Amino acid sequence: MSTFGIQQPIVELPDQDPERDFSDEELVWTEEEQEQIEAWEEQYADEQGAIMKVLWLAQEKFGYLPPEVIKLCGETLDMSFSQTYGVATFYHQYFKEEKGSYVLDVCTCFTCQVCGGYDILHYLEEKLDVHAGETTDDGMFTVQEAECLGSCGSAPMMEITNGVYVHQLTPEKIDDLIESLRAGEVPEFTSVTLPQDEDEMDGNRRTDVENTTTYETQPRAEHME
Ligand code: FES
Repeated sequence: MSTFGIQQPIVELPDQDPERDFSDEELVWTEEEQEQIEAWEEQYADEQGAIMKVLWLAQEKFGYLPPEVIKLCGETLDMSFSQTYGVATFYHQYFKEEKGSYVLDVCTCFTCQVCGGYDILHYLEEKLDVHAGETTDDGMFTVQEAECLGSCGSAPMMEITNGVYVHQLTPEKIDDLIESLRAGEVPEFTSVTLPQDEDEMDGNRRTDVENTTTYETQPRAEHME
């Protein structure tokens, strides 16, 4: 059967003008942001290459990317809504709806799964009284299931709001983490990093590990202040 002449769109586009969360007055870039966008455009063969950075900037500015914000990003770079929407929805890290102050992405992909990723996810769900994909009533935490976050060597792990990686999770670490986040602090955890080159590995990836601390970036709650 021919695959040509498809009548239905493969992805259903959302209403671009539903009940909007942001007004026209809010949907503008500041002078500084506009300058930043122009600088990014210069880095690529054509301006559309800057779309991921512009979506990221918009997420920092508005907190998430409802249709009207996706539209603003597309129009800024002369892209159609469907093109822009395609990029925004391809990546889990772009939030298409409002999230809690902290987004807890628990990896349940292959390696984390066999190392207890689902146990960790279910522990967190029970502790916070939410299901994956939901936000706590106080708006503090959104719990999500994530695909591989590229840190399989320290499974099971989670990422906090597109920034901090927390490795080798245990229920005790979850308890500490939630308590600290409620107090507005992102704790440092000891994690294991694999050596970066063949010589260092010396043929054995598991015995040459060294202890490092997780790197930290600001949680979203601070970006938004
Ligand atoms: S499977 Fe979890 S980080 Fe790769």
